[in-house]
Formats: sequence, C-alpha cells, structure tokens
Amino acid sequence: MPHLIRISGTDLSFCCEDGQNILDAGLKAGIQMPYSCRQGVCGNCAGAVLSGEVACPPAGDATPPGKYLFCQCRSLSDLEIAPEAWHRIDPSTCQLYSVKVYRNTVVADDVSVLQLRLPAGQRVRFKAGQYLQVGLPDGSRRSYSMANPPFESDTLQLHIRHVVGGQFTQILRQLKPGDLLQVELPYGNFGRNEDTEAPMLCIVGGTGFAPVKSLLDEMIKKRIERQVTLIWGARNLASLYLMPAVERWKQRMPEFTFIAAVEDAADAEAIGGFHGRVDDAVRNHFATLNGHEVYCCGSPQMVTAAKKACHERGLAPNHFFSDVFVPGPAAVI
Ligand code: FES
Repeated sequence: MPHLIRISGTDLSFCCEDGQNILDAGLKAGIQMPYSCRQGVCGNCAGAVLSGEVACPPAGDATPPGKYLFCQCRSLSDLEIAPEAWHRIDPSTCQLYSVKVYRNTVVADDVSVLQLRLPAGQRVRFKAGQYLQVGLPDGSRRSYSMANPPFESDTLQLHIRHVVGGQFTQILRQLKPGDLLQVELPYGNFGRNEDTEAPMLCIVGGTGFAPVKSLLDEMIKKRIERQVTLIWGARNLASLYLMPAVERWKQRMPEFTFIAAVEDAADAEAIGGFHGRVDDAVRNHFATLNGHEVYCCGSPQMVTAAKKACHERGLAPNHFFSDVFVPGPAAVI
C-alpha cells in the first residue's frame, strides 16, 4: 500500500509505493534529497524519521546515530521525515541517450578515459559533479561521473577504473570508435556550493579525479576565483593519469595548490608530493580547515578516512561534500 511521506517544516509530500525506498520515491516525485551511492555505503542520504514506521536493514558504519539511510528504508506507514537538505528537481531531465565511442584510451595500468559523442545536434544537460549510468547487455548498469564540464555538452568524458573480472571492464577493452552505448543522465547531487566563496579543498582518490575535473574546468570557464587545494591520492606517478589538466589549473587559477599523495616513496619524492595517504596529507598540510569546504571523491574507505581527518582539523560538519564510488552494478530507480 502506498504511503504519504511529508518533509517536516514544509508543505511538501510525496508518495512512496510498496517496495520503493524513500530516496527513490522522492526522486521520482521531483524531490531530491542528498545522496551518492544509493547502496547504503556513503551515508549521504541519512536523515531523521520524526513520525511513522520504516523498514530498514540493520544500521551499519554509514548510519549516523538516530538517523536512517533513506536509500535503504521503505515506509511501513505514512511518515514525517527530516532530510539534511532537499530541493525540487524536474524528474524528466533524466534522459536516455544513444552515444558513440569517439576515443578509448588506456591512460594508466588500470584506468581508461572514454570519450563519447552525442548524435549530431543533440546536447546533454548536467551539472558539474553529476554522474551517468551506462546500460550493459545483461540489463545492469554502471555509474560514472562526467569528467568534462557541462558547457562541453555534445560530449561525455568518463574516467573508468579497470576492475578485475568486471563486466564493463571486459566490454571496455573491446570498445572502439563508432561503437554505440546507452547512457542515462544526469544523476547525483554532488557539486559546487555556489553560495559561498570559501576556500575549497578537493580530495580525490584515483578516478575520483573525474567529477572534480568537471568542477574545476567549469570554474575556470565561469571565472570563479576561489582558493583551491587539490589532493590527488595515487599508487605511483603513472597513476596520476591526467597531469596536463593539473598543469592547466596551475596556470589558469590564481590560487590553486596541488598535492600528490603517492604511496610509492620514490615517486612521491620525484614529484615533490606527499608520501602516504590522502587523509595524512590533509593532516600534514592543514593546521585548520575552519572556514573551508571539502569536496571528496573516491572509494568508501578513502572518503571515510578523509572525512575523519577533515573533522579533526576543525571542518564544519556540513561542509564536507562527497561522491562515493562503489564498484559493481548501480542501483536503478
Ligand atoms: S548510503 Fe544512501 S546514498 Fe549512499
């Protein structure tokens, strides 16, 4: 039986069907609450349930005390909820596109950059930091962030980490110019807070570079001059697979600082970077993050460690924005 979900303190409500989770029900109704993985891993969708009954899996590490993960919980009655944030969206903006492979380049041992082109005359609309889903032959989907900025709207650039035995990794190896893929976008609400000029700390691991590249390329185009520090975590020098973009930001952004956090000691020294993990690079570089905003993209473990380091350095609780990459099939609304 469908239930009515009301957002506390507003006159907004939406319907949650049987078997639907609260986050997806909101998205379908054009109400977007914070989310990233939609798989119960990142904790971004956590909110309070003020009245009514919900069915949720047992609380795990991602669940803050007293809160519920809306991507994992179903309603058992009408509810009054208090998400961390919400805004109205137009659900019809999420569209399927048939795109052509333009270029498929292996840029590191375990990373490919895939350039896709839309059919002539078609354009995509998305915000810097959002992601798309690629349809696979078995009906499952994989999620990848757009690395190109939104103004490059006739193309899509994806940075894809190779996963051993991964279904899309195997398909990727065969993809050649002219091949067709089905993609749906835009998804996600990771993106730059446009209401502030606070210094930005971007912390990325591996292909977590992609959404931040979109953010920074857009800032240059829009001439937005915020102080930016980018910490890019990688195994070795070769894993920093798109250094020309970093060099471009150094030249075009007056207050841009780059820190490579590299596991390989010799490579860290060679590039003048930090030897170690991104969270330790945060602790090493910043005495305080008071007044900063942090934009963090990568694996769940990396994001959790980075968040802890940022809060140790005094970052305000609501100034940490993350996009968590979970390998394997994407959750489909
Ligand atoms: S835990 Fe719900 S969106 Fe990640």
